[in-house]
Amino acid sequence: MVLWGVFVLGMESVIERVLITEEEILARLDVVAAEVMAELGDAEELVVVALLKGALVFVADMSRRMPVPLVMECVNVASYHGGLESSGEVKFLDAGMPDVRGKKVVVMDDILDTGLTMHAVLRELMEAGAERVWSCVLLSKRKERAVECEADWVCFEIDDEFVVGYGLDFEGRYRNLPYVGVLRIKN
Ligand code: PRP
Repeated sequence: MVLWGVFVLGMESVIERVLITEEEILARLDVVAAEVMAELGDAEELVVVALLKGALVFVADMSRRMPVPLVMECVNVASYHGGLESSGEVKFLDAGMPDVRGKKVVVMDDILDTGLTMHAVLRELMEAGAERVWSCVLLSKRKERAVECEADWVCFEIDDEFVVGYGLDFEGRYRNLPYVGVLRIKN
């Protein structure tokens, strides 16, 4: 058993409060994965695309709730570059897209914020020849998007606060917290 309370105290309480517990996340994933399977479970070739790095934990747990022979791919993309706000520029860090020609694709990400990342990835995958692309996110911020983009499946809607844990980071850290928490912003 890992002592996460001690970890957080040791980090001088970087977490202002826990927003979504591990138990709440996993229970919701059971429901959403079943919804994805109801829609796509009979797809001949289903590709799950994880957007690195934030989607790592989410995809690990979601994909294990999808009992079909899906293919897992990753796209390495970044827009925050470590800070508290989106830079507005979506950078694809790998050359090329995975082979999705003629396939049904579900893009999974940790959070939909401005929408710029998901919008850019969906466009690239369609341009790469996917038959159809869906999007599934752990979190969706209730806010106006910079582009028109909403996810097909949202596990949790949250207010516009900076959150970390369960894949989400601040300056590269805290992705391994098992829950989603609000980051304590120091002035
Ligand atoms: C974060 C997050 C999403 C994206 C959402 O990625 O993981 O991919 O930003 O923001 P948006 O809707 O405003 O585009 P980040 O660039 O921080 O990279 P990371 O996944 O490696 O943390």
